[in-house]
Amino acid sequence: MSKSLNLFLPAIGGTALMLGGAYGFTSRDYAEQKIESLEIQVEQSTASAADAVANARAAEAEIEVLAAERDELQVIAAAGGGLTQPAPVAEAVYGLGREALPEEIAAWDVDILPDGRGLPVGSGDVWTGEEIFVEQCAACHGDFAEGSGNWPVLAGGFGTLSDEDPVKTIGSYWPYLSTSWDYINRSMPFGNAGTLSADDTYAIVAYILYSNDLIDDDFVLSNETFMDVELPNAGGFVLDDRADTEYTVWRAEPCMTGCKEGVEITMHASVVDVTPETEEEAAAEEAAVVTEPAVEGAAVETEAAVDPALIEAGQSAFRQCSACHEVGENASNRTGPELNGLLGRSIGSIDGFRYSSVMSDAGEAGDTWTAEALDAFLTDPRGVMSGTKMAFRGVRNPEDIAAIIAYIQSVGSE
Ligand code: HEC
Ligand code: HEC
Repeated sequence: MSKSLNLFLPAIGGTALMLGGAYGFTSRDYAEQKIESLEIQVEQSTASAADAVANARAAEAEIEVLAAERDELQVIAAAGGGLTQPAPVAEAVYGLGREALPEEIAAWDVDILPDGRGLPVGSGDVWTGEEIFVEQCAACHGDFAEGSGNWPVLAGGFGTLSDEDPVKTIGSYWPYLSTSWDYINRSMPFGNAGTLSADDTYAIVAYILYSNDLIDDDFVLSNETFMDVELPNAGGFVLDDRADTEYTVWRAEPCMTGCKEGVEITMHASVVDVTPETEEEAAAEEAAVVTEPAVEGAAVETEAAVDPALIEAGQSAFRQCSACHEVGENASNRTGPELNGLLGRSIGSIDGFRYSSVMSDAGEAGDTWTAEALDAFLTDPRGVMSGTKMAFRGVRNPEDIAAIIAYIQSVGSE
């Protein structure tokens, strides 16, 4: 079996497998219907060919394809086969592939249906199951299938399905035992899927049933006893018939009389400013609030002079940078280096960030970021530092630069 098969099959689950079964069953009808509809299409195409000489060629080509498809389907239908069987004439038409070997089909045909179809011959008892479970599953699912840490719980949870936080386990929730067998056999142990033998799987499933108090400890689960077990929630899944049963009852013409005359908008949320747009902004807003008393105390002389409106403008202009840069508490390197303590910082000096040589060379030569240097760089990054990795066109509006610098200083002055 290929890797992708292992990944794919566990993902589709019981419903898809049941659909798969239904498909095989009805595919013969489907083939006949398809023939009919293809025949109609052939007729229509013939008519249009007669009508328009210009279209005749294309239509004829289409007829050929459709007719070939029809012939093919007729052969399949005549052979009594479903569409899932290899198409005998496919080779003649496309010249591709070969018939699948019986063992190849068998390798794919591994699904187990709720009625037990597909179960391999085999058996396992509760105590053998316990041994395997403790060895191979308990690390994640707990010794008694009670779950460990955040890994799934496989036992218990009875009577919790209508709780706010239901515990869905094989015992409390799963409708069919076949799903447990199939899922465990194909996808567990996690990270080592496909290693369990049929007997191992019977034994493990028996142990899980025992852990759920659903069988006695002397029960031997096998392909023969499998259908003796019915899971408690088997009746808990129903077809969604609300479209017929509920909507018709509750749906009525909406009342459109006595409505309010007009609607007047009194305030916009953005004006009230109740919703900070990003986490960073929220953090910045908090930081701004915190720095205000500091201004009064004159603890931070440089900031004391900075206009809060400028910082605010800088905060919104910084959005053009925030795709690549972080600034403020917990800022880390992203596509670009973090920008804390930028003014006065040696150029290209953040540890762990891989700068272009133009930037690290400038730092090594002793250059630091001054307001003037930043102004020039941010106006035209690649013009000023040819070879920089900063893929950014530059700040369009010159007034934004001072604001951005003020903002970086306010939240990222360390
Ligand atoms: C390394 C941890 C790990 C081990 C070992 C492991 N499992 Fe799991 N198991 C998981 C994880 C993770 C999931 C959830 C997978 C998912 O949702 O895709 C899971 C899901 C399951 C489920 C479905 C639970 C549900 O309610 O959806 C069953 C049944 C199960 N495991 C049985 C077993 C059995 C039996 C073994 C031993 C043969 C085993 N697991 C070993 C981690 C593990
Ligand atoms: C598309 C991503 C990107 C955008 C957008 C971006 N930068 Fe950069 N920035 C970088 C990269 C990458 C570097 C490293 C450049 C190098 O090594 O040449 C960098 C470097 C810098 C440096 C030098 C830092 C140091 O440690 O020496 C500053 C300052 C800077 N950017 C500021 C800004 C500002 C301010 C803005 C917004 C106006 C901005 N950047 C927009 C990716 C970006």
